Amino acid sequence: MIARGAMLGPDQPVILHMLDIEPAAESLNGVKMELIDAAFPLLKGVVATTDVQEACKGVNVAVMVGGFPRKEGMERKDVMSKNVSIYKAQASALEKNAAADVKVLVVANPANTNALILKEFAPSIPEKNITCLTRLDHNRALGQISEKLNVHVGDVKNVIIWGNHSSTQYPDVNHATVTTNGGEKPVRELVANDQWLNTEFITTVQQRGAAIIKARKLSSALSAASSACDHIRDWVLGTPKGSWVSMGVYSDGSYGIQPGLVYSFPVTCEKGQWSIVQGLKIDEFSRGKLDATAQELIEEKSLAHSCLN
Ligand code: LMR
Repeated sequence: MIARGAMLGPDQPVILHMLDIEPAAESLNGVKMELIDAAFPLLKGVVATTDVQEACKGVNVAVMVGGFPRKEGMERKDVMSKNVSIYKAQASALEKNAAADVKVLVVANPANTNALILKEFAPSIPEKNITCLTRLDHNRALGQISEKLNVHVGDVKNVIIWGNHSSTQYPDVNHATVTTNGGEKPVRELVANDQWLNTEFITTVQQRGAAIIKARKLSSALSAASSACDHIRDWVLGTPKGSWVSMGVYSDGSYGIQPGLVYSFPVTCEKGQWSIVQGLKIDEFSRGKLDATAQELIEEKSLAHSCLN
């Protein structure tokens, strides 16, 4: 997807750096062979390595997918102890080797807390440059609304994922709209079923990762990769006018979420910078959900620190 321009645009040449662990070196080399064989016009180079320092050398965008994967029946935080130590090591490698303005997207779980650990152990990377993936959940929410209303997914916008990329996340449609022949209409009005929106819709999005694991016996792959491209593309090239996306970013205290957490907010992006959408009305139902997912992140943060001690 990256070599085809899905992440950085159809005119941006790319050099791909791919890192894997030693036992996977041969298969990594196979991926490199396939990349060469695909003759992508945008692909100007491939570095396939098991050396984290070499992998991070000069990178402008780092997509952190490495981690121990979640299995059926596990919560994402169950992979915490294995993955936070990986993020501590990779943070140092990025800090030493990446471009000064590197943009980091953490995908591996627990994504928000891994991003927080990475931020702590790479203090010279600006906190604005370290994010985690909740665009997958955002896209899942768009998909559920589009299925429910039988409208094209491209006509649905401005859902929000608040909080943790976990089963406490809050998929919020209170500001979402659908473009219809008669103009933009609120999702709540069109669905006309608050009961469904406040229960089944929320749990379906919260549990979608687990449902994919149950069905495939493997975690999401295509949708995760595609949403990672969406995340970086919008961050680098900007969000379309009048619409926002969800990104896990370092909280500045917006919406009463304590600073010091990587929390998913609605953001707009312009000139390579994201900003949290301000001034959205939060009703009492939503307030409870925003706080509950923040509380889980506070607990994950102290669990992560205890794993590192
Ligand atoms: C997902 O949401 O699909 C991924 O985070 C994989 C998982 O553990 O659910």
